[in-house]
Amino acid sequence: MRTYLVTGGAGFIGSNFIYYMFRKYGNDIRIINVDALTYAGNLANLDGVKDRKNYTFLRADIRNKDAIEKIFKENNVDIVVHFAAESHVDRSITDPEVFVETNVVGTAVLLNAAKAVWEKDDGTFKEGKRFLHVSTDEVYGSLSDPKDYFYETTPYDPHSPYSASKASADLIVKAYVDTYHFPACITNCSNNYGPYQFPEKLIPLMINNALAGKKLPVYGDGRNVRDWLYVDDHCKGIDMVIEKGRLGEKYNIGGHNERENIQIVKTIISTLREILPEDDPRRNNVSEDLITYVEDRKGHDRRYAIAPDKISSELGWLPDTKFEDGIRLTVKWYLEHKAWMENITSGDYQEYYRRQYSV
Ligand code: NAD
Ligand code: TYD
Repeated sequence: MRTYLVTGGAGFIGSNFIYYMFRKYGNDIRIINVDALTYAGNLANLDGVKDRKNYTFLRADIRNKDAIEKIFKENNVDIVVHFAAESHVDRSITDPEVFVETNVVGTAVLLNAAKAVWEKDDGTFKEGKRFLHVSTDEVYGSLSDPKDYFYETTPYDPHSPYSASKASADLIVKAYVDTYHFPACITNCSNNYGPYQFPEKLIPLMINNALAGKKLPVYGDGRNVRDWLYVDDHCKGIDMVIEKGRLGEKYNIGGHNERENIQIVKTIISTLREILPEDDPRRNNVSEDLITYVEDRKGHDRRYAIAPDKISSELGWLPDTKFEDGIRLTVKWYLEHKAWMENITSGDYQEYYRRQYSV
């Protein structure tokens, strides 16, 4: 039985990935979820799998060399799927150091621990071992020509401390491939949306605020473009790269779904008004009058857009979920998980929100 070590499995994409993998492989795989449970990690995301015999949670920080080495020594890990990261651009602007520590140093610690147990005496690696480093399209910087896309060959040009730390991590992974022929692949995916996303990110923040009748803070002119992908389609891509990706390669993942931020906010409002029952008092709160243009993010990248040609032609990946369906599923999920949202937005979140939005 194959053993997957998933880092950051209590976060947004990691928890969706764990559900995706158990739906697909059932009892044929074992998953060990290693997560430090930062503000972004939430074990309640995994309530649906926590009692499975082939699932284990280990609380550990990927920066902690001893703890990580111990986990690799005690478990015969076949596949590492590395999600754990500080992931929010705004937080990276106010507090960049932890981004370097977790995203860069943490990745190096994991690579080194995997190398120590996977490498044979002759310097080659044991059969079937794979390290999948989950990265972002933000490493490529920002596009100005509307006909341009990010390809795997696009030079790295990160701007925020977040994207710079992810770019650095990608390069450390590449260095392991180039130097040791370490069995790794990198995926660079566009913006994800779906269940379990922390409400500091655009889509869940807007859903949560609209339901509470709070202002919807749109940065700058609201015309920055992001390329949105439903989270399950990202998980499908990661699984395909693990199964069929060529070792040492990187693959962009994105579904050609570019939208301006203001379009996203208006779609959330219309979807909420469509789904909320007539007699739900929150329905009266939801209107475009809540939209408020606020000071722009520092160094705000204008447009991201992925060319997924390589993963589509080599591995046959295509997204399954159209944005219109995905956003309905997502809005419905947040409406049905009111307690999850209340739990996550109590405590520290309030303080973060006041600081970030000066309210
Ligand atoms: P998230 O912030 O929701 O989750 C991150 C998880 O990592 C949390 O569970 C947190 O507790 C854990 N973590 C943080 N620091 C840790 C540490 N030092 N040790 C162990 N665990 C730690 O992030 P996400 O949105 O799920 O993103 C997951 C990965 O995917 C990240 O690497 C991110 O760069 C990448 N990515 C995200 C998107 C997106 O749109 N969200 C798009 C492309 C790539
Ligand atoms: P975000 O979800 O933080 O993802 P990223 O910055 O990694 O792309 O933001 C998505 C877009 O939405 C980005 O252009 C910034 C913008 N945005 C707002 O306009 N208002 C907000 O309150 C937030 C959180 C983001």
